[in-house]
Amino acid sequence: MRQNILRADSVLLSYPIREVVVIGKELEKLGDFSMVWENIGDPVAAGEKVPSWLQDIVQEQVATDQSFAYTETKGAIQAREYVLEHFSDKKKCTVDDILFFNGLGEAINKIMGNLPKEARVLVPSPTYPSHATAESMHAGCSFISYELDPNNDWEPNIEEIENKVKFNDHVVAILVINPNNPTGSVYKRETLEKIVAIAKKYDCFLIFDEIYHHMTFEGVKTTLLHEIIGDRPGISMKGISKDVPWPGSRCGWIEVYNSDKDENFKGFIDIVLLTKMLEVCSTTLPQIVLPHLYEHPKFEPYLKARADKYQRRADEACAFFADIPQVRVNKPKGVFYLVVELLDLPMNTLESVNKNVRLYLDDLENNSTPADFQFAYELMGAEGVCVVPLTGFSSSVTGFRMTLLQEDDAVFTETLNKIGRAIQAYYS
Ligand SMILES: Cc1ncc(COP(=O)(O)O)c(C=O)c1O
Repeated sequence: MRQNILRADSVLLSYPIREVVVIGKELEKLGDFSMVWENIGDPVAAGEKVPSWLQDIVQEQVATDQSFAYTETKGAIQAREYVLEHFSDKKKCTVDDILFFNGLGEAINKIMGNLPKEARVLVPSPTYPSHATAESMHAGCSFISYELDPNNDWEPNIEEIENKVKFNDHVVAILVINPNNPTGSVYKRETLEKIVAIAKKYDCFLIFDEIYHHMTFEGVKTTLLHEIIGDRPGISMKGISKDVPWPGSRCGWIEVYNSDKDENFKGFIDIVLLTKMLEVCSTTLPQIVLPHLYEHPKFEPYLKARADKYQRRADEACAFFADIPQVRVNKPKGVFYLVVELLDLPMNTLESVNKNVRLYLDDLENNSTPADFQFAYELMGAEGVCVVPLTGFSSSVTGFRMTLLQEDDAVFTETLNKIGRAIQAYYS
């Protein structure tokens, strides 16, 4: 090339949830086995059948001419009206404050990417990787984070949040993921109220990723941002990917609260909308399906049955890992993941399924491989299970995240056994 076309900050780009797959696919070929994919939060990939009532709704809507047309840039009016009526708060938000995106992933990139370089968003650690990566890419340097504390049910460290906001006036927003991916925690209302109070005290806005707000276990309820935000400007991020097994719909949205309370914030949201306008709009079909989907009499019982199933998986996995002294788990209160901390993790290897797998892993692993990445690679090569290393979620805590999605009871139990075997051998 006559000019360098590689951005210097491209080293910051990473999405380990899918990056491990490239390695896993190679190992499957070399080892001639089928991997158990525990890396991604896609229920369909984990064997869940798409229910016929959902397929029927999609087919009815695809038969309309409207589903072939563009929508308004903000999104289909019936979807925005539905969201306002059912998920939001009319005192803090209007139908014009709801913006649809091609998945929440796009919204995350648009929000972070449109901030001035020096305006920073404080992100949790561990975090869903898109947030941290989009934040660092916009700033051109590493993200700024606050710790979620495994000794306190993975709740945010409030004192640290306050100090990071207080002593860094570049921080303009605090990001909270609640219910949380990867940890499965659902935060206490008072924790969230304290974060809102910090935002108020230091004149910041709030971003709450609430995409898992429906996915909580028995007796647990999510406190939503609009219930506690008062008059602070803020953004709630939601979507349909986790509510029904249709993450491929690529349909997420933001609800902007109190935009009338701060001119600067309102100007920023206008810019986000303008950049969306450059792309015209998001895909129409899932938006016009949306009201029908949530209104369907089978939606609520279906959601409950799914949450119950994931809770059963969580109970089984927590009981299983409780017997392994080298690990620690916090029982999730929602979502469909489990974080397993690997305590004092050594660097080691496991007996691979064959020589070719061993050679590939020897080539891959080196002195700079993080300890839990090494464990994840070795687990794939020895037992054929693909998990995501916890440090891949921008965390300093070593461990891994697995899903609770596996459809088949026996396969789930067997997966736990495989992981358990690998842990025992790795530490011995
Ligand atoms: C916390 C969190 N936010 C956002 C997303 C992105 O969702 P979408 O499928 O709408 O892009 C995910 C996907 O796993 C997630 O876990």
